Amino acid sequence: MTAADFVVVANRLPVDSDSDGGWRHSPGGLVTALEPVMRSTHGAWVGWPGKPDMELEPFDFDGTRLIPVTLSAEDVELYYEGFSNDTIWPLYHDVIAAPRYSRPLWEAYVQVNRRFADAAAEATAHNGTVWVQDYQLQLVPAMLRESRPDLTIGYFHHIPFPAYGLYSQLPWRRQVVEGLLGADVIGFQRVADAGNFARAVRRLLHYETRASGIRVPQPDGTIRRALAKAFPISIDAASYIELAGREDIQARAREIREGLGNPAHVLLGVDRLDYTKGIGHRLKAFGELLAEGRLSVEDVTLVQVASPSRERVETYAHLRDEIELTVGRIDGDFDTVGHTAVRYLHQAFPREEMVAFFLAADVMLVTALRDGMNLVAKEYVASRTDNHGVLVLSEFAGAYDELGRAVTVNPHDIEGLKDAIMQAVNMPAAEQRRRMRSLRRRVLEHDVEDWSRDFLNALADARKGATG
Ligand code: G6P
Repeated sequence: MTAADFVVVANRLPVDSDSDGGWRHSPGGLVTALEPVMRSTHGAWVGWPGKPDMELEPFDFDGTRLIPVTLSAEDVELYYEGFSNDTIWPLYHDVIAAPRYSRPLWEAYVQVNRRFADAAAEATAHNGTVWVQDYQLQLVPAMLRESRPDLTIGYFHHIPFPAYGLYSQLPWRRQVVEGLLGADVIGFQRVADAGNFARAVRRLLHYETRASGIRVPQPDGTIRRALAKAFPISIDAASYIELAGREDIQARAREIREGLGNPAHVLLGVDRLDYTKGIGHRLKAFGELLAEGRLSVEDVTLVQVASPSRERVETYAHLRDEIELTVGRIDGDFDTVGHTAVRYLHQAFPREEMVAFFLAADVMLVTALRDGMNLVAKEYVASRTDNHGVLVLSEFAGAYDELGRAVTVNPHDIEGLKDAIMQAVNMPAAEQRRRMRSLRRRVLEHDVEDWSRDFLNALADARKGATG
């Protein structure tokens, strides 16, 4: 196998298996972002094919070499469902759910990170570049640096990095920070995340940090400089604009509204079914507005798309029960034969259908309690080429740093959330246009290609001046 000059390492491969045994691109933004770089560099991608015990040889897909890492059923349980999604995920999202601290989970995380690092080391050419993605693989940068000091190593953290007061709960807090510091550039979504990380480095390791630079002492007594900085991720805005311009998708948007009984206002929520998304807070606010008569089911419907996620993790199973109970209660109390209060869809949809939903929605509700970025907010804005529609956006989502012209909310403040929903529902068209134009400008000016270019340029620069 020839080694590649550019290698991405992520928990998941950028493909999903389809029903007739073939593969298709998975819909994520990261895949779209990296497609041109992967193609022009004949890059490779190391990742898990998404099902337990799947043993596959490396294969080529659309110009990229895919290198599958096998996870046994036990690895999936301990490393993926366990340490990644029942320890790190809740801890890094401000302990909205209680993190599970368990030594066997940690040991599996170390062991599986080692396997990803070994696969990446084998796949990368001398002096090549490796870009590690996300919280499932925080130990990979240091493992790789140890085995392959010739490599340039980048890491991007897609989720929040918590304040030290919370981070310090982690029994393996020092090992994780050391793992990340193996990278030349450690990218975060928000300036605050990079600041939290730098503080953890100072508190735990007493290394010097200045602006975005961190001085990392090496075993030979020299200093290596690492960069920890915000690189807010974005979307492939052009593809959303193109879909929004398609006749069939516009017709589908009209059909969706008709299917709901043509209410005057359609509100929309689109989330993975995750406790970080504030779906319960959103439903509570909406239910109270109906109960108080500030909204009427004849005029307003909330469409909640909640795509299934991590269903074998107990917290997620509980959340599903709780949300479905709440939806059932609201609909039971307020539906009429012809109108529904909440149209709940526990399903995932292709991108075309999502854009139809965006075009059908007068108000988009993003009420996350904590979110690395929230790309749905950007997708909604990009799709609204007609400058109509209102984005209600939580200040706890990374997108808030860029999308300040949204109607911004603290989702914990239910009265404030209710007022924000009313403001959005009643917003005059001229004000919608003004705000939407400014939101769109930001999303179109900084799309996902800019994101990957900015990160990779910083990585190339960092490597040039790394030692000294
Ligand atoms: C978040 C994480 C990603 C993850 C995605 C879906 O966006 O940052 O790393 O891939 O959720 O979660 P899943 O557990 O299905 O991969």
